[in-house]
Amino acid sequence: MITSANLSKPSQPGPIGVFDSGYGGLTILKSLRAQLPQYDYIYLGDNARAPYGTRSFELVYDFTLQAVKHLFAQGCHLVILACNTASAKALRSIQQRDLPVLDPTRRVLGVIRPTVEQLGATSRSGHVGVLGTPGTVASGSYNIEIEHLNPGFVTTAHACPMWVPLVEYGEAASPGADYFVRKEIDALLAADPLIDTIVLGCTHYPLLLPKIRHYVPEGITILSQGDIVAASLTDYLSRHPDMEARLTRGASCRYLTTDAPDRFSAAAGVFLGESVAASRATL
Ligand code: DGL
Repeated sequence: MITSANLSKPSQPGPIGVFDSGYGGLTILKSLRAQLPQYDYIYLGDNARAPYGTRSFELVYDFTLQAVKHLFAQGCHLVILACNTASAKALRSIQQRDLPVLDPTRRVLGVIRPTVEQLGATSRSGHVGVLGTPGTVASGSYNIEIEHLNPGFVTTAHACPMWVPLVEYGEAASPGADYFVRKEIDALLAADPLIDTIVLGCTHYPLLLPKIRHYVPEGITILSQGDIVAASLTDYLSRHPDMEARLTRGASCRYLTTDAPDRFSAAAGVFLGESVAASRATL
């Protein structure tokens, strides 16, 4: 069991931890490594327990905290929850309740806030659609953040329960995926025809982007999170030189998965366009 006693030493610099329930966070990692290539990264996918999107608050919180502790024990001082479901259901508790006990100098950041910060400049109609997992949608996190930062905006959040399984099981490009992609986009736009911006509020969804683009009418902006989160982290590190000094700069990336490493390596390698060696992590 990982406790505050066996975390790596705070004085020793370490890699940036990137966590997702499965493969989706690779869309964030890819952008992070493109914009901030100098740092070392550890990617952790909890593939054995994905998807998170249909799980209870308690379980998502428990699993996410286990992952964060694992990444801390690997030497990470900074962990990005590259998962909207974990950001929606676990981030606040981890930041407010767990970090002060585990190690108040470490940081865990999410993906929802940086995404919402883009909307003021993107939406002209003030009508925003959010596509996410059932968990993210039920949490109301996007609605709360959007209306907080942009009073008067109308947010319609819509759950796409089949999209993560399509990605996790390698069906994102299959003809069968078209049915589910079209169904959810049509439902979102029927709920509010004035939507001019759609947030892909799940890090798995960019893997469905070719099909999403095909079914979203022209004139509607689709926001996917990779570059947004990478720009936000760049800004964060420039404002927090103390944290930046605690990051190692070897331009490397290690991949950990809670499921079979071979399966992860094959799927992640295809997606990232480079061969990837993964190891098994037990949380
Ligand atoms: N990729 C994750 C997200 O951004 C979670 C998907 C899932 O495990 O359901 O919400």
